[in-house]
Amino acid sequence: MSAITIITGSRDRLREHERGLRGMRPRGGLVAAKSLDDLRDQLRRLVDAATGIADGSIQTQAVIVDGKFGAGSRAFSVTDPLYREFPDGANSLIAMLQGAGIPVLVDPRGLSAECAYAVARAGGRLIKDGQLRRQVGSAIAHVAFNRETLKVENDFARGYDTEELGGAATVSAILSENEFVVSQLREFAKEHTGGLRILDLGCGTGRFEELLLTDPKLRSKITQIVAVDFAPRYLVEARRRLPHFLKPIDMRKIVFLRRIAEDLHFPRGYFDVVLASFGVVCFSRSHLTLQQVSKVTRTGGLALFNGYNRSALTYEFDAKIARTDNPVTHFAIHIDKDKNRMHLGSSVIDCMTFDVPSFENLLRLVGLNPATEHSRTFPTLYGAARRDYLNELASPAASLDPGREHASCHKPGTTCSTHLSYQDENLVEHTDSGFHDLIHKMDADLERVLDRQGFYFSVAAHKGPADS
Ligand SMILES: C[S@@+](CC[C@H](N)C(=O)[O-])C[C@H]1O[C@@H](n2cnc3c(N)ncnc32)[C@H](O)[C@@H]1O
Repeated sequence: MSAITIITGSRDRLREHERGLRGMRPRGGLVAAKSLDDLRDQLRRLVDAATGIADGSIQTQAVIVDGKFGAGSRAFSVTDPLYREFPDGANSLIAMLQGAGIPVLVDPRGLSAECAYAVARAGGRLIKDGQLRRQVGSAIAHVAFNRETLKVENDFARGYDTEELGGAATVSAILSENEFVVSQLREFAKEHTGGLRILDLGCGTGRFEELLLTDPKLRSKITQIVAVDFAPRYLVEARRRLPHFLKPIDMRKIVFLRRIAEDLHFPRGYFDVVLASFGVVCFSRSHLTLQQVSKVTRTGGLALFNGYNRSALTYEFDAKIARTDNPVTHFAIHIDKDKNRMHLGSSVIDCMTFDVPSFENLLRLVGLNPATEHSRTFPTLYGAARRDYLNELASPAASLDPGREHASCHKPGTTCSTHLSYQDENLVEHTDSGFHDLIHKMDADLERVLDRQGFYFSVAAHKGPADS
């Protein structure tokens, strides 16, 4: 149930705000701290609760917060960092909440002009006398992302790995993307002398964290992966799943954050590499997301995108094979490219599709230079062939066994066998058995005959010298 959270150090203010929000659903968080560290801890817990990080719930529509809190003789402002990982206050209370798509309204009483300016620059709205209710209503109405999509994605998180890894065709698509991402990153890492700081946008259950931090050539080069998703339940799943497959030393390189792709609140040029993969670009408001990707990629840095290829969706069989009620069709989604909607089982979410050249042009507009010679599309079969047919082609060893314990589990225990690996030997088997190569070959043949490109596209781009 959605509510407006009030975070304040004063009981009187809490009551005052509650009165001002009549008709809405206020929820109070009273802070009384002895030291600055204690205060920071209390605020961190309130921010985590508001953003649903711990339990995956999404209950906050907006936050009303005091601009300044006192702890002993010291003060803490909402623009001060709550966590230490990022410079520029990217982990301040205000950035953490707004980065989760939650508007923040700040009580300016006790704020210096300098602080009020910092709040406004960070995107916080200063509360005006007698206007709280109107301001909250308008802030909620202008949130940059789609809450409906968030709900569908969040609900999808628990079954995501079984869905993704359960069919030969999907696995082939995953392997193709893996190949693309790893080869581009290895090439980039060769020319890059320092450690790599990577942003994984729409990290889901942490497929790329597993892939990259187990890759023998990349593992030691990576100093940090910031794994971002707007759906808290995905973050919960990723946090549970990854310790089984990654060494503790590599787990410590990952920072999980709930942020929305359209409004990231990271410092400009902070990342060497940004991955925006498997639909995050297509599910978010792409015109905003691409600007954000360009902003947070450092000059000379690399951005890798995967998305749905608009021109592949013109097959006349697309509508036939992609119907959700067809049990033999692997493909459980149907994209209506004219309405920009994707049907995911019984749910419908917004989904942009792109022709590769148009997507590359969009990248140029935001200051990213696509490496056109590296763009790829794959595989047509994913969208076109029937599940039973593809499963016949796959090796028998490729079927998944979720009850099996992981051979080299870094965190064995009761939940060990419930988590699926994207680097499992059965998946590797797909490659070794020739199945994956076969898919590629058939795909190339199909493309020759049909003169169409594959269902997914992958595009690599470098950040140009001038900031957009
Ligand atoms: C299809 S999943 C892909 C997950 C993962 N990258 C993978 O390849 O397995 C897309 C992810 O993007 C996230 N996502 C979608 N729209 C988003 C947005 N506007 N901001 C942040 N994350 C978003 C979803 O919650 C979901 O985890």
